[in-house]
Amino acid sequence: MGEQFRILLVDPNLEHRLQIKQLLDKLSMVLLGEAEYGIKAARRAAEIEPDIMIVHIEEPLELAMHTLDVIQQAAPQATLVAVSKRGDANTVQSAMLAGARGFVVTPTTPEILEHTLQTAHQRHGELMQRALSPDHVDPKRVAGSVLTLFAPKGGVGRTTLAVNLAVALASGTRARVALVDSDAYFGDVAIMMGIEVDSNLPDLLDAISAGREVDVDSYFTRHDSGVSVLPARHSGNVLGTLDPDALATLLRQLAASFDFVIVDTSGAFGPQVAAALDESTTVFLVTSADMASVKDARIALKALHGEGFDRNRVRLLINRATNAKSVTDRDIARTTRHEVFWAFSHDSDVPRSTQRGEPLVLWRPRARVSRQITALAAHLAGASNHAHIGETGGGRLFTRKWTRAE
Ligand SMILES: Nc1ncnc2c1ncn2[C@@H]1O[C@H](COP(=O)(O)OP(=O)(O)O)[C@@H](O)[C@H]1O
Ligand SMILES: [Mg+2]
Repeated sequence: MGEQFRILLVDPNLEHRLQIKQLLDKLSMVLLGEAEYGIKAARRAAEIEPDIMIVHIEEPLELAMHTLDVIQQAAPQATLVAVSKRGDANTVQSAMLAGARGFVVTPTTPEILEHTLQTAHQRHGELMQRALSPDHVDPKRVAGSVLTLFAPKGGVGRTTLAVNLAVALASGTRARVALVDSDAYFGDVAIMMGIEVDSNLPDLLDAISAGREVDVDSYFTRHDSGVSVLPARHSGNVLGTLDPDALATLLRQLAASFDFVIVDTSGAFGPQVAAALDESTTVFLVTSADMASVKDARIALKALHGEGFDRNRVRLLINRATNAKSVTDRDIARTTRHEVFWAFSHDSDVPRSTQRGEPLVLWRPRARVSRQITALAAHLAGASNHAHIGETGGGRLFTRKWTRAE
């Protein structure tokens, strides 16, 4: 007998579901859960973290494909296998483009289903691993991505996510990663990474602003993971103004020599933050799962949109920093009118890792939050062939087509 997978079955049709269940029974596979299309399926996927998600593809096809998208985001480690009565090229191709690693036309036999599950699972594992391997280079990426972690208020986990994402990218791939702490006087990046600060961002920006010739490299502090860090200044004048144009210039320059430039921002929505947002390939708007923070995210999204900022460049991240369980991902998507891109669980080891000065993805790589962050890093590095990334992001995630409005 082959490997016993833990399975989530997504199928709106009861009768069809029964057929698949009978097949799974014969194979002694563990059926962890069942769900209908849509957000329910995504929620189940996030809850049970299955090895394999079997999705029945039937009309309405759009909803089926949307379901493939959302469940992958909810459980990126799980292998996606589509089953359908429809075996036409169009359906098969759409499902594969939407991330399915295998396709079974029904009715089928236990042997065929088992074989497909096994090969799909193996392939998915290989692809995930390859994306995280040092040799991986995403051919689609032609210039560095500037990824800015943003929230209108503090305490939602921007710095935590910025640090861990940077470390996951640098230690998991061969990508060159810069991490810029643009919370210039009160930023916590250096503390969270346990690094000593010699030079700092405000000094560098002052030099750029004054038109002095600067060796940008010499301002970086290198973390063991390989991340090049531009930390905040932790002494002296805290009332100085940072030149937003110098920050924009710097970010543009860094994007030319790093694959990923991760920017952490301060709580105040001032000209420096605006400059960072302007220069960003993608803005990660972070919210915790409490209503006050969600309301802030909604207002921020509206304001950005009002300023002509393309909503498609904004990705909504839910970080359960405050462990508020009352607001679901679905409520947040509905309130903000924005799709949830990635969600991170609550874990009391997160503040502990901060105290230790050791990013969670290094200290506790197996923790759920670490795996969620690593999966996001793999996704950004090109692990996934999710069609929706190219579509909703206008293909902009890895190329800088957007320039600052003068
Ligand atoms: N997923 C999480 N689970 C538990 N605590 C978290 C999580 N994310 C962040 N925290 C904690 O929340 C607090 C605020 O995080 P921080 O990254 O400093 O937020 P911000 O940069 O947005 O102000 C910190 O104490 C951090 O350890
Ligand atoms: Mg912070």
